Amino acid sequence: MKIAIGSDHGGIVLKDVVIRAVSDLGMEYEDYGTFGTESVDYPDYAEKVGRAVAGGKADKGVLLCGTGIGISIAANKIRGIRAAHVTDAFSAQMAAEHNDANILCMGGRITKPEDAYEFTKIFLTTPFAGGRHATRVDKIMRLENADE
Ligand code: RB5
Repeated sequence: MKIAIGSDHGGIVLKDVVIRAVSDLGMEYEDYGTFGTESVDYPDYAEKVGRAVAGGKADKGVLLCGTGIGISIAANKIRGIRAAHVTDAFSAQMAAEHNDANILCMGGRITKPEDAYEFTKIFLTTPFAGGRHATRVDKIMRLENADE
């Protein structure tokens, strides 16, 4: 499994623990930046990671910004992306199990590093339940092609 990771300056405080969680799971990763604390625009990183996941270069992604909100909104504009903004362990599990989310989003100004480590591991190891949840996810994805 390959994981695409991206962050703006507000989320970068969590990037090392996310990389550690991915590595501890024996998964590969690609780091799409940012690589410093200077102010950058989170949609740029949402786009890099979202396109990597939607295009099949990565199986799943993790995106970080100050709150996790802006970067999830941006990633969800990319066709094929289901980005989940997560602030607790149960939501990390449900995002994978019920929503088949393909990108986990967290906020560096909200979530503690030790929690981000746990949420990342939960998200990446919880299988999609399928069944009735697959029907619902299909309905979500059909909205991408729905007319007004
Ligand atoms: C950057 O200051 C901040 O707006 C960004 O990291 C994020 O929190 C946006 O949702």
